[in-house]
Amino acid sequence: MTRTLSTICLGLVALGAGCDRRSSPAEPTSIDAALRRDLARWGVIPIGPMPAQDPALVALGRALMFDKILSGNRDISCATCHQPSEHAGDGLSLAVGTGGTGLSRTLGPGRQFVPRNAPSLVNGGLGLFYLFWDGRISGFQSGPFTTPAGSALPPDLPNILAAQAMFPVVDRREMRGGPGDRDVFGNPNELAQFGDSQFVEIWQAAMRRVLAIPEYVTMFSAAFPGMPTDRLGFQHATTAIAAFEMQPLTKTDSPFDRYLNRDDAALTLEHCCSSATLGARVATTARSSAGGSSRTTEHPSLDPGGERVRRWTSATAT
Ligand code: HEC
Repeated sequence: MTRTLSTICLGLVALGAGCDRRSSPAEPTSIDAALRRDLARWGVIPIGPMPAQDPALVALGRALMFDKILSGNRDISCATCHQPSEHAGDGLSLAVGTGGTGLSRTLGPGRQFVPRNAPSLVNGGLGLFYLFWDGRISGFQSGPFTTPAGSALPPDLPNILAAQAMFPVVDRREMRGGPGDRDVFGNPNELAQFGDSQFVEIWQAAMRRVLAIPEYVTMFSAAFPGMPTDRLGFQHATTAIAAFEMQPLTKTDSPFDRYLNRDDAALTLEHCCSSATLGARVATTARSSAGGSSRTTEHPSLDPGGERVRRWTSATAT
């Protein structure tokens, strides 16, 4: 089977139709040319390389992302709901938070589902302006950020992913737990004792846990050289988590990106069927996408309060 678009249907992108080989009479060059014209019209560009992140920061972020210590009951990590094997999502319609068990997630007794779906984190660092399904965290990459914490949000957050990562630990269903909860070792859950608006106290308590572990103190010193340990706040933990999200969880140079980069042989027929379908979505959203995650400029919220519409920053992947 040819490796160019000669055997695949331009209609996938141009018309949004299914992949029907019988309906592609045009010559390869004209198909590619027409496809490229459409892609250019919608401003679809390949995802460029991301700025390299400090390896010490990424290592710390990786450790924190997979560490259940950030949850009040010490039973769930970020990666439980954003699993590498599930494109950094959880494969569920609604997420199962603290109290749940297993990687495929069984709801714990007396617990309720998180009312929303866990989005993939793949390519979340490419320049989104809104995060969460209802866009309740927003801001340009370097801030200022609008978040549920208002003025309690520390000012020194370097990017929107670091701002977002301040919040799963505050959410009772996702990570914090309810009043009176005990952790998996039977100890009182000190994070759950705070009220829902006591952001600062919750972040300080989470950071006390982390810095009680000598290995973390070493990792923080490597990631934030010269910063005294007593000046470290939870925003430094989330800065590291964001660095992890921006490096290992960013996937560029996909076959579709290479095709956009004028490599006509980059898409096989198999790629085409998925990528061109994806491309059809991308063409209407003017944004390149990879890793099973597609992001649209505007789509309805899937949450129970679905009257709000989530608007993504459009186009130009940075
Ligand atoms: C219980 C499962 C669960 C855990 C644990 C969890 N998340 Fe999430 N995550 C979700 C859900 C559900 C959403 C969507 C919530 C919403 O829109 O209100 C989400 C949204 C996000 C988003 C926004 C993505 C987007 O495209 O808008 C990011 C980034 C993220 N989580 C990172 C993290 C990090 C970092 C941690 C750990 C500090 C974490 N999550 C812990 C379930 C979880």
